[in-house]
Amino acid sequence: MGILNRLDQLQLLVVTGKGGVGKSTVTAALGAHLANRGRKVLLIEVDPRENLHQLLDTPPSGGEIVEAAANLWIQHIDPRELLDDLVREKLKVGALVRKVLASPVHLHFTEGAPGLKQTAVFGRALRMVEGHGPKELRRPDVVILDAPASGHGIAWMAAPQLVSEVISSGPIGKMAAEIATFLADRERFGSIVVTTAEEMPVQEVLELLDAMSTRLDRRPELVVVNSIYPKAPEAHATDDDATRLWIRRRQVNEAELARLAAEFDGPVAEIPLEPIDAGPALVGVVGEHLTDAFEDG
Ligand SMILES: Nc1ncnc2c1ncn2[C@@H]1O[C@H](COP(=O)(O)OP(=O)(O)OP(=O)(O)O)[C@@H](O)[C@H]1O
Ligand SMILES: [Mg+2]
Repeated sequence: MGILNRLDQLQLLVVTGKGGVGKSTVTAALGAHLANRGRKVLLIEVDPRENLHQLLDTPPSGGEIVEAAANLWIQHIDPRELLDDLVREKLKVGALVRKVLASPVHLHFTEGAPGLKQTAVFGRALRMVEGHGPKELRRPDVVILDAPASGHGIAWMAAPQLVSEVISSGPIGKMAAEIATFLADRERFGSIVVTTAEEMPVQEVLELLDAMSTRLDRRPELVVVNSIYPKAPEAHATDDDATRLWIRRRQVNEAELARLAAEFDGPVAEIPLEPIDAGPALVGVVGEHLTDAFEDG
């Protein structure tokens, strides 16, 4: 199955990768691409530094679902608020809710329990694709989660399973188990890994591929290798420093692409480094490169 058919089928996609490699740019470009194909797309951003709206030229979400273009919505989510909502929803008695929310134990638990925030974010995404969204967007066809760079992508993808193992009973345990089942469903959930063709980010991708295959028995649907230097001229002894730098960076990019290809035989989209600042213009050009890559693959 081609990569586009695969992406068209999925209801939830998570975009992960090391800090600054281009996750948000790729999320915005991919979202616009799928929206153009007629799918209703919701992009969820978790990073406290909200920036998807700048990339799509819309006002900030401030927690609301904002329509950025036809078929394309964005929402900024604070995982702490989600967890508080969860307490409110699961414990319906007002006084009890207030007590739990105010208690240092709740704070300590929600800040300290590994995987709980990630689980809550996935839980929200799942509710949306199951048709329980607010009236602005009752049921997106696909939710794309722009995961924050902190920690490896595996910390996101394996979180619900971890939580369901630790908290095996009660409403939170039940929710985590449902989400873990959803994330294990190849027909519905997939991941996209973004990297640059540099040593450290590629190393992290290789580790992620390994962790995904051993812990989840899965691999990403797509690896996006972003910000690749243009093809360099032949090296000459007379080259100036800038040319030598260019040739060298391009060599590193090619070596790292080869290192990745040796470990990953799935779809790879290569995106060049563009002389364009962050914003809608860059998102548009990255989207064109993605489209080309999808047509080739
Ligand atoms: N192909 C590209 N060519 C040129 N610049 C790019 C390209 N892709 C991304 N950038 C730039 O790199 C920077 C980081 O991109 P982006 O914010 O999308 O990364 P990120 O992975 O979401 O970062 P963070 O981890 O901080 O959330 C931005 O300034 C963006 O404009
Ligand atoms: Mg980002």
